[in-house]
Amino acid sequence: MSTWWQDGVVYQIYPRSFCDTTGNGIGDLEGIGRHLDHLVDLGVDAIWLSPIFPSPMADHGYDVADYCDIDPMFGDLDAFDRLLAEAHGRDLRVILDWVPNHTSEAHPWFVESRSSRDNPKRDWYLWHDGDGVGEVPPNNWRAVFPEGSAWKWDPPTESWYLHLFTPEQPDLNWRNPEVRAAMGDTLRFWLDRGVDGFRMDVIHLLAKDPAFGDVEPGSSLFAAVLDADATHEYLREIRGVLDTYDDVTSVGEVYILDTHEVVDYLGSDAGEELHLAFNFMPLHQPWDAERWRTQIRIAEDAFGARDRWPTWVLSNHDVVRHRSRYGESEERARAAAFLPLTLRGTPFLYAGEELGASDADVPPEMRQDPSGTRDGCRAPIPWTAEAPHGWATAAPWLPFPPEASLRNPEAEGDDVDSVLSLYRRLLRERRASAALHAGSVELLDDLPAGVVGWTRTAGDDVRTVLVNMGEGPATVSGFDGQTVVVAGHLDDEGEAFDGLLRADHAVVLA
Ligand code: GLC
Repeated sequence: MSTWWQDGVVYQIYPRSFCDTTGNGIGDLEGIGRHLDHLVDLGVDAIWLSPIFPSPMADHGYDVADYCDIDPMFGDLDAFDRLLAEAHGRDLRVILDWVPNHTSEAHPWFVESRSSRDNPKRDWYLWHDGDGVGEVPPNNWRAVFPEGSAWKWDPPTESWYLHLFTPEQPDLNWRNPEVRAAMGDTLRFWLDRGVDGFRMDVIHLLAKDPAFGDVEPGSSLFAAVLDADATHEYLREIRGVLDTYDDVTSVGEVYILDTHEVVDYLGSDAGEELHLAFNFMPLHQPWDAERWRTQIRIAEDAFGARDRWPTWVLSNHDVVRHRSRYGESEERARAAAFLPLTLRGTPFLYAGEELGASDADVPPEMRQDPSGTRDGCRAPIPWTAEAPHGWATAAPWLPFPPEASLRNPEAEGDDVDSVLSLYRRLLRERRASAALHAGSVELLDDLPAGVVGWTRTAGDDVRTVLVNMGEGPATVSGFDGQTVVVAGHLDDEGEAFDGLLRADHAVVLA
């Protein structure tokens, strides 16, 4: 029996950038509530909110200072409860972003932990003495960002603490059962309020190699520092907490670029660890049919062969938007939409992709991101054609994406052939067709170079999807006479398929 988190489509909201109702240039919960009807019209089933908890915002909320409250920048618990009720009233589920690997340095746990060597919370973080006083860190591990050692010298107790991300994000010590119990309580806090699940930030990093040895220069930091067995054990505990609630889900950000390893985080028995896990390998592929065919095959070998449910994602708050990655072409962005929305698995859409948004051009003096690369994809969502595009200020925290006066729900809502209209048609067809939201998938082999395609089947319901990633038009045989039920442009729909597929075009056939 399948569930909402398998059949449905999840829409990621980066709250800072969704809609500002207060005039401070930063999006807020009220702004999300204001646009829920856009999401209902789009046809998604759930929203995932990037972190909304109190935070000094050193990593824009991925540095959490209190797991059980709302940052005043976004609203308060009452505003959250209202948003949750409004979403549920529209049959939209709500997924929060849980950041268990590290806290903010401002979290009271860390404030205590750093205060003295014999503080009861000392062992909640990863403290180690290096050589000399503040001279040589405990090992050669490097932070993911910014460039530098993963250890920070802390003068009050003359010791080093581990931070795999910024120094403002100290890593928790998951080996300590008190940490695991406290983090389990943070899940219960939100589940008791009625949330439907969690996206789990860098969940594969929870347990580090207890030897804390040096990594070989040039080797992948993560491969060397992780203790996967312990992380799997903690994930089983986390699943135990989730399973005391009905119908909730978890999706892990398992940032391992090996799909077979990612699937391990769903547990050796289905239902043991994560419900879903992101598979980022496809997102790292260029617009190339052969490369995509390979990734689809690997995903089926990895997820399908073990009877697990995959996920598909092209864009999020950490990567250049796929429209920009694939060369900015709108035609290509249209064709790309068919990948996550018609392959076997749960699609995760990133706010703005339904408008065909590109990355914003962010001048150096406006840059905000500590990693230096992620501001462009975090640009504010324009809601109306005229500036300030439905924002309460003309000066949001980042500039709007290009062509904001054309690429917004107001302008696109009036245009039957807009990118937004295409996403709506695809989502409608996906919801209506059991083959598309729940069926098996079979890759098509005999297609011309440049074309990737697959057939989805659920009983009598069969859909074929063809995507031309090649440089020129392609002729596909074997499907003549089938009806084009969704195409990149409205004009091509409802016709009998003639076998001709223009470059950067995609179709769903029935
Ligand atoms: C994840 C988040 C990213 C964040 C990092 C540290 O990769 O997606 O935005 O910076 O974890 O929490």
